[in-house]
Amino acid sequence: MLVNGGIATQQQALAQLDQVDGVMLGRAAYHDPYLLHLLDVTLYGGKVRERADLLRALRPYVEAQLGQGVALKHITRHVLGLFHGRPGGRTFRQVLSEGAHRDGADWALVERAIEATCVPRCAAA
Ligand SMILES: Cc1cc2nc3c(=O)[nH]c(=O)nc-3n(C[C@H](O)[C@H](O)[C@H](O)COP(=O)(O)O)c2cc1C
Repeated sequence: MLVNGGIATQQQALAQLDQVDGVMLGRAAYHDPYLLHLLDVTLYGGKVRERADLLRALRPYVEAQLGQGVALKHITRHVLGLFHGRPGGRTFRQVLSEGAHRDGADWALVERAIEATCVPRCAAA
């Protein structure tokens, strides 16, 4: 049996998994995609990774898609909430929302958005 709808936090998801076989997340995964990483680590192990690190792991995929003519906005729309509640999270979202639909938008824009989340500065990538 699966639960679908209304699960907003890691605690709620884990509590449900004591009762059912699976939990589906819709809005929560968009609102705060990092929740999926935290759940993944909790359920399957591994190290908790930084948000920027996870996003940079997407770079080969992003560049392959850009090479096939997919617009950056179609990918970045799924990660707008990655820095939700974190320093620079609003600027991160804004940089991507405003820039990703422009002609020629590429990975450099994502790096600019990440840079906005580093206080005071980002470590070298
Ligand atoms: C961005 C987004 C995309 C979704 N895409 C699908 C979909 O492709 N097929 C589907 O059956 N439900 C889809 N849903 C609905 C969810 O599976 C779920 O039923 C709904 O979001 C309620 O759960 P929530 O309270 O976790 O958001 C989507 C929901 C969201 C927020």
